[in-house]
Amino acid sequence: MRETLVYIGLGSNEGDRRAQLDRAVVRLGGVPGVRVLRASTWHENAFVGDGPPQGAFLNGVAELRTTLPPHALLGVLKAIEAEAGRSLPAPRHHPRPLDLDLLLYGDATIDTRDLRVPHPRWHERAFVIEPLRELGLAIDALPRWPRPPAIEVAAGFAALCSTWHAGGAVVGLVPTMGALHAGHTSLLHRARSECDRVAATIFVNPLQFGPGEDFAAYPRDLARDLQLCADAGVDAVFTPAVAAMYEPDFCSHVGVGAAAEGMEGGLRPGHFAGVATVVARLLALARPQRAYFGEKDAQQLAVIRRLVRDLGFPTAVVPCPIVREPDGLAMSSRNVYLDAADRSASTVLFRALSSARHAFARGERDREALVQRVRAVVATEPRAALDYVELRREIDLQPLPPGPVDGGRLLVAARFLGGARPVRLLDNLSLTDPAQP
Ligand code: PAF
Repeated sequence: MRETLVYIGLGSNEGDRRAQLDRAVVRLGGVPGVRVLRASTWHENAFVGDGPPQGAFLNGVAELRTTLPPHALLGVLKAIEAEAGRSLPAPRHHPRPLDLDLLLYGDATIDTRDLRVPHPRWHERAFVIEPLRELGLAIDALPRWPRPPAIEVAAGFAALCSTWHAGGAVVGLVPTMGALHAGHTSLLHRARSECDRVAATIFVNPLQFGPGEDFAAYPRDLARDLQLCADAGVDAVFTPAVAAMYEPDFCSHVGVGAAAEGMEGGLRPGHFAGVATVVARLLALARPQRAYFGEKDAQQLAVIRRLVRDLGFPTAVVPCPIVREPDGLAMSSRNVYLDAADRSASTVLFRALSSARHAFARGERDREALVQRVRAVVATEPRAALDYVELRREIDLQPLPPGPVDGGRLLVAARFLGGARPVRLLDNLSLTDPAQP
C-alpha cells in the first residue's frame, strides 16, 4: 500500500515531559501501518496563549511514513494522548501531559470539523518551525493552509457556511465594516477560540449611513483587513459589493423599536434599521451558532440582541468588551479621522465615564448627579461638543426605574470639531461590571 510522508507535532507541559514525548514516539512506531523515520530533539518553550498560568512545554516533531488514512491516523494520535492521561475532550489552553498534532499529511489539504491539514497555524509557531528546521526541512517549501478565501458572492458565502454546518461545525460570525483595529481582532480571536469555523464579513453598509454622513469617506483598506483576518485564523471573509449584498430590486427592511429609540437612534434616524437589515441578512446567509459584537457600540448591541430574539435567529449574540488605547480612548475605525489635538482631547470621554464610576463606587446613587459628573468632565474639554450622556439599564439599555440607582451603564457621545471633519465618538462604561477598568 502507498505510504504518505507525515509530520506530527508533539508537546508536553505536565508530568515527566521528556518521558512522555519519548514514549509517544515509541508508541507511534509500534502502530501497524506507521513507520517513524526520525524525530527532532525536544525544545523547551514558554507557554504562550490565553489559558491559565502554566509551565513551559517541551516540543518537537516526528517524521513518519504511514499507510493509514488521515482520520485513522488522527484516531491513533488521540488514543496515544488519552493513554498519556490527557482527558478528552481536553479544555483548551490548559496544561497537558501530551499533545499530538497532525501537521502535514503529504501535500493533502483536509478540512473537516475535527481535522484541518496542513495545520492552519504551524508556520506561525516557533515550537514547530525550529524542530522542522532541525530535521533539515526547507520551511518555505512546506505546504501551508490556504489563506482564507475572500468571497464576494452571497450565495457562495451561504454555500460555504452550509458545508461547515453539514460537517457539524460550530460556526462563528464576526460582522464588521472593515478598517479593522484591535477591537475587531479581539472579536476574531474570541470567535476563533470558541468556534470550529469563523467567518468575518467586511461590508460598509450604505443602509446605516444617513445623508451627509461619512459613507463615501469611511476608511477602507481591504488588503490590510484580509491580512488581519488571516493572522487571526479566520476561515473565510465575506466581502460583498453593495450590489451583491442588496440586489437592485431589494426592498425588504427590518424595522426596529424601543431598543433603537434615543441616543444614536435619536441622532441618526434610520441608522439602526440599516444595521438590523444588514445583520439579519448576514445571519440568514451564515446561520451562525454564535455572532460577535463589540460593547463599544452598546446601543447597536442592544438592537441586535432584540432583533435576534424577536425574529428567532438560532444565534447566540456574544458581547465583547471594549478595547482601549493605553490612554483610555475606546478603539474605533473613526479614530483615524482625529487630528493630533482632538486625539489628545478625546480621552476626556473615558475620564468622564470613569469619574462617574468612581463616584458610584464611593456611594453616589443619584442618577442626575452621576450624569452631571460626566457632563462636567466633558465640559472641561473645549474641543468636545457633547451629544448626550445617558444612564441606562444594563443589557437592553432601557430607562432605569425612578429612585436611587443600583447599577446601569453610562453612555456618552461627543463630537470633536478641530480636524478637517467633525468626528463623533461614542463610549460607555458599566457602573458595576468588575471586568471594566
Ligand atoms: O459595528 C459595525 O461595524 C456595523 O454596524 C455592523 C454590525 C457590521 C453592521 O454593518
